[in-house]
Amino acid sequence: MAIPDDAPQWRPCTPLDAPALGRFNAQLAEDEGAPALGPTSLYVERMRTWLSQGRYQAALAWAQDEPVAYALWRDDPDYADVFVRQFFVAREHRGRGIGQRLFEQAVRQFWDGRPLRLDVYDSNPRGAAFWARLGFAPYSRLMRRMPAEPGVDASPARPLRARTDRA
Ligand SMILES: CC(C)(COP(=O)(O)OP(=O)(O)OC[C@H]1O[C@@H](n2cnc3c(N)ncnc32)[C@H](O)[C@@H]1OP(=O)(O)O)[C@@H](O)C(=O)NCCC(=O)NCCS
Repeated sequence: MAIPDDAPQWRPCTPLDAPALGRFNAQLAEDEGAPALGPTSLYVERMRTWLSQGRYQAALAWAQDEPVAYALWRDDPDYADVFVRQFFVAREHRGRGIGQRLFEQAVRQFWDGRPLRLDVYDSNPRGAAFWARLGFAPYSRLMRRMPAEPGVDASPARPLRARTDRA
């Protein structure tokens, strides 16, 4: 199928794009049910730090002069893959195949031939369905334990005991 001339196109970001990326990031956190970092300005600052320190790379997809999506990723030598930390299509552009088309375009443009890894929050089953359709398969289960609140015992309710009756 021919791609229309006005289809969104990726452009790599610099730290100067932090305001647009940070605004989208705040919406992404809300949409996927992630714990909020705080006001949008904190997302913008975090983006600026990530990009200016080279901790992540990002690209915005533009339809004419309007940003419609972004991706944020880093090369992860520890896993020999690319970790796609964030992928987002603006709310008013969803459900028309833009996400799928832009993701495959990003594969060709930025991650050609590389294994890809990402996390999906359990609170985002539609997001998980989107990735499954793009060929992602379950790989590991990320688990988390929060620090104990002062005065609250965080140890497991049933302490582990050495078993002596093993068959
Ligand atoms: C997920 C997302 C990138 C897909 O972009 P899109 O352009 O809407 O995707 P497409 O039109 O190519 O595909 C539609 C599919 O995307 C997913 N999707 C659509 N809206 C969604 C939303 N608000 N949240 C999560 N997933 C959504 C669904 O799987 C949908 O299929 P369905 O209509 O059968 O449920 C986009 O919806 C989005 O940015 N959602 C919020 C952020 C998010 O969940 N990002 C992924 C983090 S793991």
